[in-house]
Amino acid sequence: MNARADEPASAATVAAPILSARGLVKRFRTRSLVRGVRETRALDGVDIDVFPGEVVALIGESGSGKTTLGKVLLRLTTIDAGSVTLLGQDLFAMPRGELRRARRDFQMVFQNQTANLHPKMSVQQMVDESLRLHRPDLDATGRQARIDELLGRVGLTARSGQRPASLSGGERRRVGLARILATKPRLIVADEPTSGLDAAIKLSTIQLLKELKEEAMTYLLISHDLGLVRRIADRVLVMLHGRIIEQVPARLLGETEFHHPYTHRLMRAADLDDDRRAPPRERRDEGRAREPLPIESSVHGGCVYAADCQLAPRLGILPRCAVERPASVEVGRGHWVACFGAELPPEDVR
Ligand SMILES: Nc1ncnc2c1ncn2[C@@H]1O[C@H](COP(=O)(O)OP(=O)(O)O)[C@@H](O)[C@H]1O
Ligand code: SF4
Ligand SMILES: [Mg+2]
Repeated sequence: MNARADEPASAATVAAPILSARGLVKRFRTRSLVRGVRETRALDGVDIDVFPGEVVALIGESGSGKTTLGKVLLRLTTIDAGSVTLLGQDLFAMPRGELRRARRDFQMVFQNQTANLHPKMSVQQMVDESLRLHRPDLDATGRQARIDELLGRVGLTARSGQRPASLSGGERRRVGLARILATKPRLIVADEPTSGLDAAIKLSTIQLLKELKEEAMTYLLISHDLGLVRRIADRVLVMLHGRIIEQVPARLLGETEFHHPYTHRLMRAADLDDDRRAPPRERRDEGRAREPLPIESSVHGGCVYAADCQLAPRLGILPRCAVERPASVEVGRGHWVACFGAELPPEDVR
């Protein structure tokens, strides 16, 4: 079993999940003349639940499977095993027509927005187009009121007559967001919403994400920016080589007694856990800069971090870690860690 994501961790998570996935496996096969056929397990048995009104952050280094998971959860790509349930319906068994309708409720935003914008339409016309499609109940006056409201929300009122060519990258993203909001989605997957933005646009995007949270919008926030994640998310899932290796309430990130050794490394890289917060066992590893593991060297039967872990040799459990996949253990309320160290008494892993 991978880290379980089914434990409510905040007041927002008491209802039934909006989205629920179990045992997701996604493999990619690539072919090259030099290396032949190679297989990458982008998802290696992932379980996840997202509850109404919560912001779930997915963190992990590049190549850990975050975008693939976001896509699978919206059926933007196929799976090799597992299931995704959206509002009680099996997403991968949905007929095309139903899937089209469901897509209004579940959307991926912020990525490649430019490609979705019509070059000859103004900002106002593009938002209007979304409303005509998804809100047939509104007449022209109702639509105009909603357009004004949405453009105000995303800070584009003054740009309503502009076409995409005269908008900045950040403004294009916000047009995309206004179009998405026009459909009133139930769940948003925001993949790296602040990456590649200059400081000012990044700040306004963060503000927007906060406003969405205040409006109880449910979203999966994919980001490697731990500072952003701590400010916005309710719950944080840590991914490594296609597995979720830790699930932790955001308020406990860097503040709890036990973290997965890989989470420690991520936090060190992000300068999140200073000396005061770092548990003693990790402090001893400090100063040893470590490179990401190539996916191919991960042991699929064992722990994906075994080849790189400093804790396992210290505890004398490396032989077990190399062959056995660690189950997720609850180490605190809503805090799950997939590491054999979590099974041991805290004094043994210090
Ligand atoms: N279309 C694809 N073809 C082959 N490999 C892919 C494809 N998409 C993703 N991968 C591989 O799957 C792994 C996870 O990728 P991705 O989900 O993009 O990670 P992340 O978003 O965390 O950076 C990586 O090793 C990546 O190279
Ligand atoms: S299961 Fe073993 S190898 Fe994996 S993180 Fe824990 S101690 Fe390290
Ligand atoms: Mg990605």
